[in-house]
Amino acid sequence: MRITIFGTGYVGLVTGACLSDVGHNVLCMDVDEAKVARLLDGDMPIFEPGLEHLVKRNVANGRLRFTTDTASAVAFGTLQFIAVGTPPDEDGSADLQYVLAVARAIGEHMNDYKVIVDKSTVPVGTANNVHETIRQVLAKRGCDLDFNVCSNPEFLKEGAAIEDFTYGARIIVGTESERAKELMRECYAPYNRHHEKLMFMDVRSAELTKYAANAMLATKISFMNEIANLAERLGADIEAVRHGIGSDPRIGYHFIYPGCGYGGSCFPKDVQALTRTAQQVGYEAELLASVEAVNQRQKGTLFNKLAQALNRDLTGKTIALWGLSFKPNTDDMRDAPSRDLMESLWTAGAKVRAYDPEAMNECRRIYGDRDDLILVKSREDAVRGADALVICTEWKVFRSVDFYWLKQQLAIPVVVDGRNLYEPYDVKQAGLLYFAVGRADSL
Ligand code: UGA
Repeated sequence: MRITIFGTGYVGLVTGACLSDVGHNVLCMDVDEAKVARLLDGDMPIFEPGLEHLVKRNVANGRLRFTTDTASAVAFGTLQFIAVGTPPDEDGSADLQYVLAVARAIGEHMNDYKVIVDKSTVPVGTANNVHETIRQVLAKRGCDLDFNVCSNPEFLKEGAAIEDFTYGARIIVGTESERAKELMRECYAPYNRHHEKLMFMDVRSAELTKYAANAMLATKISFMNEIANLAERLGADIEAVRHGIGSDPRIGYHFIYPGCGYGGSCFPKDVQALTRTAQQVGYEAELLASVEAVNQRQKGTLFNKLAQALNRDLTGKTIALWGLSFKPNTDDMRDAPSRDLMESLWTAGAKVRAYDPEAMNECRRIYGDRDDLILVKSREDAVRGADALVICTEWKVFRSVDFYWLKQQLAIPVVVDGRNLYEPYDVKQAGLLYFAVGRADSL
C-alpha cells in the first residue's frame, strides 16, 4: 500500500517507520529541510528505543523515503496521514494551523481519491474542519474529486512507541465511509492478526476517545498525588495505600504511582485542550480543571520539600539533580517537573548539578550555557560536592544506591525523592534525611 505521512515528528516518524516495516511503501514529508537531510543520513531527531534501527533498515530496502516536496507527497499515497504538531495556543486550545496547512496542500495537489487520516491529537470537529478546507480548495480549482477524512488517534507512549504501535490494545478509526474503512483495514491488517483490534466509530467519537483516554490517565495520577499529599499530613504511607487500592481490579495497579507531577507533550496539553473545548461548548469541566491544578501544584512540591529541608536557605547552594526527562527512556523535557524545579532553584540563587542518561543535550538546547547549570556525565559526578540531592525521574540507573556512600558525598544529608524509589528506612539508616512523596515515614 502507498502511504504518505505529513510530519516527521515523534508520531509521524514512528508511524512511518512501523508501517514501512510491515511492507507498506511510505513517503514521509516534512517542510524542515535540515531534518529531512538528517533523516536521510540515518540521524534520528529524537531518542526512541529501536527507532533508528527501524528507520535505517527500511530506508535501505527502499520502502521508507523522505521528502520536502509537497506535490509528490500528495501524489504518492492513497492514505495521507496528517501527523504534524498541534502546539497549545495562548489559551490552552490546540493550534490547528499546521494541520490545516496540510489539508490545503492536499486539496491543491490531489488528482485522485484520497483518504486523509488525522493522526495528530486534534479537537473534536477537526476532521470536519479538514474536510471543509479540502473541499473549498478543490472547489476553487474547479475539481470534483472524491475523498474522505477519518480520525485515527495514536496511543503511543514515549519510550515504548514502537511496541505500542505494534502491539497496541486497539486501533481506533473514526469514519462513516465504507471505502475509507476498507483501506484503513488494509493498512492495519499486519497488526490485526490475532484478534480484532480495529474499532470503527463515528469521527467525533474517535476524536474524543483520544482525549478521554489521556484525561482519564492524567486524572488517575492527579488523584494519587492528592491522596499522597493527604497521606503525608495524616501520617499514612501512600505506598501501602497504593498497594491496597490497586488490589481491587476495578482500580488496578497501573498508573497509580504518585510522584512529582505528570509531564510530557501529551497529558498537560490534552487536559488543557479538552478543558478549553468544553468551555467552547458552554460546559465548565470542573474535574479536568482540577486535574490540571493538582498537577501544577505537585510539580512545585520538589522545591517546597527541599526548601523546607534546608530551612529556606538556598542561596549559593549546589543541588544535585538525578533525572531531567519527564519520564525514563526518553530525552523529552517538555513540561518536565525537573524544569519547574531548576527554574525555582535558580530564582532562589542555587546552582544545579544535573545528570540524565539521555536528556543532557536537550537540557543544553533549552537552557544554553549558564553558570548555575552544570551538566555532568554520571550520577556519581552529580552528587560530588553537592549540598543536597533531588531525584526527578525514575531512570533504572538511580534505583540501587549505596546510601552510606551517598551520605559522604552530600554536604547536607538531604535527599528529596520525587519518585519514591527507596525504602525510607534504608535511606535513613545511613544518616540521610529522606523526603519522598506521600510517605509519612519520610517526613
Ligand atoms: C501518554 C499516554 O500514556 C499514551 O497512551 C498516549 O498515546 C500519549 O500520552 C499521547 O497522547 O501521545 P506519554 O506522555 O508518552 O504517553 O507518557 P506516559 O508514560 O503516559 O507518562 C506521562 C506522565 O505521567 C509522566 O510524566 C509520568 O511520570 C507520569 N506518571 C505516569 C505518573 O506520575 N504516575 C503514573 O502512575 C504513571
